[in-house]
Amino acid sequence: MQIKIPFIDLWSQHLPLMSEFSQAIQEVIESSAFAGGPFVAAFEKDFAAYCDVPYAIGVGSGTEALWLSLLACGVGTGDEVITVPSTFMATAEAITYCGARPVFVDVDEQTYTMNPDALKHALTPKTKAIIPVHLFGQPSDMDPIMEFGCKHGLYIIEDACQAHGATYKGKRVGTFGDTACFSFYPGKNLGAFGEAGAIVTSSAELDEKIKILRDHGQQRKYFHSVVGWNCRMDGIQGAVLRIKLRQLEAANQRRRSHAAQYDVGLRECDGVITPVQASYARHVYHIYAIRVSDRDETIKCLADQGIATGVHYPVPVHLQEAYQALGYAPGAFPIAERCAAEFLSLPMYPELTHSQVEQVIQGVKETVTGGVEV
Ligand SMILES: Cc1ncc(COP(=O)(O)O)c(C=O)c1O
Repeated sequence: MQIKIPFIDLWSQHLPLMSEFSQAIQEVIESSAFAGGPFVAAFEKDFAAYCDVPYAIGVGSGTEALWLSLLACGVGTGDEVITVPSTFMATAEAITYCGARPVFVDVDEQTYTMNPDALKHALTPKTKAIIPVHLFGQPSDMDPIMEFGCKHGLYIIEDACQAHGATYKGKRVGTFGDTACFSFYPGKNLGAFGEAGAIVTSSAELDEKIKILRDHGQQRKYFHSVVGWNCRMDGIQGAVLRIKLRQLEAANQRRRSHAAQYDVGLRECDGVITPVQASYARHVYHIYAIRVSDRDETIKCLADQGIATGVHYPVPVHLQEAYQALGYAPGAFPIAERCAAEFLSLPMYPELTHSQVEQVIQGVKETVTGGVEV
């Protein structure tokens, strides 16, 4: 009998923790600490320790984390911020919402993260910051990016929304930039029960600025020193995330072992390019994306076998309709464009079993070669 394999299965992740969640949520309700408050503060303390930084600031989403980071670094109208087109739209949106202009550089063909050699071509007197994106859970090549940023006096904001717990040369992502931004969207490696995000930083000054910005620009209730916004994290999300954070290392380890199984199973498969873990990286496989030339057909054949897949992302950000006014034409970033046409994300979540991964491997082989290997 064919067993269906979903793309992600949050229920099986949450089921064993249900009584802990119920108790924690009841405590939030009993104390009425719904917006910010002690449950968020406790999570912030634990998440800062996990990321090996002094400060973490809980906010409403990863998008808000990016936006507030840029605002706190003083990025505004007339500035340019360099990032990559191989990312979720939010990275660029946050730049636009500060009044600045996103400027893109292509990605590296092996790692799918920012090509540091391309930065010099994008630099102008208006450049104020760089946002490298740790796409799919693979850290960007931070040393040359940091060196370039230091040389030119630029802020570095890590988009770590897909990379909770990944390391670069043995150090956690989030310890490199002026700030790093995390999303706790439910499907992320660390996911909330709704929308949530966090900023981590080693700068006491940025920590203070961001804490004020996320709370209507107020340091004291009803005394507003700057114009801010409401970006506070919900108390329930803080309480849930604190429980789930304790499982993150084991969950990442399981993702890595599924990735290793996929790597071996698909290595010899003609027509499939498997992801490469950079020599400097501990990849945490938020997404396991292979590349295939006939993606639509592959998706259909896998769906016929009960295997769900995803595409992250079908259109690179510089070619999105919303960014037509930036004036980028097809061909501007050939690697990002080729990847967008070929990426196919396979099921990836900690609770997958060895035999499910094997079923996906056989499914892909059958699809691309027209027959299962025995
Ligand atoms: C790379 C990247 N940046 C930013 C975001 C935005 O995070 P959120 O959805 O929590 O606003 C995401 C979320 O998917 C993301 O994957």
